[in-house]
Amino acid sequence: MKALLCKTLGPAENLVLEDIEPEALGPAAVRVRVHAAGVNFPDTLVIEGKYQFKPPLPFSPGAEMAGTITEVGAKVSQYAVGDRVMGVFTHGCYREEVVVPAAGVIPVPEGMSLDQAAVFPMAYGTSYHALAQRAELQAGESVLVLGAAGGVGLAAVELAKAMGAGKVIAAVGSEDKFAVCREHGADEVINYREESLRERVKALTGGQGVDVIYDPVGGDAFDEAVRCLGWRGRLLVIGFASGRIPELAANRLLIKGAAAVGVFWGAFAMREPARNQQNFAELAELWAAGKLSPRIAARYPLAEVPRALDDLLGRRVQGKLLVEVADV
Ligand SMILES: NC(=O)c1ccc[n+]([C@@H]2O[C@H](COP(=O)([O-])OP(=O)(O)OC[C@H]3O[C@@H](n4cnc5c(N)ncnc54)[C@H](OP(=O)(O)O)[C@@H]3O)[C@@H](O)[C@H]2O)c1
Repeated sequence: MKALLCKTLGPAENLVLEDIEPEALGPAAVRVRVHAAGVNFPDTLVIEGKYQFKPPLPFSPGAEMAGTITEVGAKVSQYAVGDRVMGVFTHGCYREEVVVPAAGVIPVPEGMSLDQAAVFPMAYGTSYHALAQRAELQAGESVLVLGAAGGVGLAAVELAKAMGAGKVIAAVGSEDKFAVCREHGADEVINYREESLRERVKALTGGQGVDVIYDPVGGDAFDEAVRCLGWRGRLLVIGFASGRIPELAANRLLIKGAAAVGVFWGAFAMREPARNQQNFAELAELWAAGKLSPRIAARYPLAEVPRALDDLLGRRVQGKLLVEVADV
């Protein structure tokens, strides 16, 4: 089986495509023929050894995939050969076949293609958990999404609308990203590299600020966004794609009766699996109702994952990147 391997920690150009032996199947595991894999920002960190989790070398990066089950372990009763599944793991998805715990995969919703499923669970799982459990988003509330054309950001824009938010404001780093944010539900769009986030949000909310801020960017954007919080606002700390982990002056929360709320979807899925399953059942309903449309911005063969990661780090992506694995 072909697998993209990280044999030494470092930049993406060090990744190599090799033939490796299939893995043994444990009793609680399933073997999945990977159709496609999604590209995510943490992939860039894992291969550099800069992520929370450091897999032993050599390993395949790639945190997200969709495919078809080809074999089930002796103790697996909930899946059968031929079932279409998707899943998120710390690494290991940039290869033709994965062996993963049956408890870690999710059925692909009816009518969703395997391509769409390969870019679905990380972005929508994270953003739904963030907005539903961490922000406790209420109908009619306003939401500001930073990095709004990125993987998790665009899903957050779409979900906020689907969950009944009032005004959804998308903030991005270039104007060519405005249209895609609007197509996915944004009412207003701000270029935070050119405009003052604080002034624009103030103007758009009648001076009130926003109820919920979704921040996967950190750095300068976070510093500005904190000043956009409305009364009883919730600032969701999703990630630090800018490369700088910001610091927060606690008085900013005090004066707005506001809260900064950490979001770690991977840990939530491990610690609260029943609630996570329920989230995916609710996401499947939103999908069936036609309210979600995962956006595939570009496609790459397995050998060109380094180029995909370079495009991601270059801030050139609108939506998600797909790695086509099946016909490698
Ligand atoms: N907490 C969780 O559970 C969880 C789960 C998944 C992902 N995350 C985190 O969420 C963040 C986004 O992940 P993603 O997969 O959605 O990434 P992505 O598609 O690359 O989106 C990140 C966005 O950040 C913005 N950005 C600002 N400065 C950047 C820089 N220096 N380099 C790259 N992007 C920059 C870009 O938008 P503009 O150019 O428009 O500013 C880009 O669209 C990452 O930090 C990731 O680790 C967290």
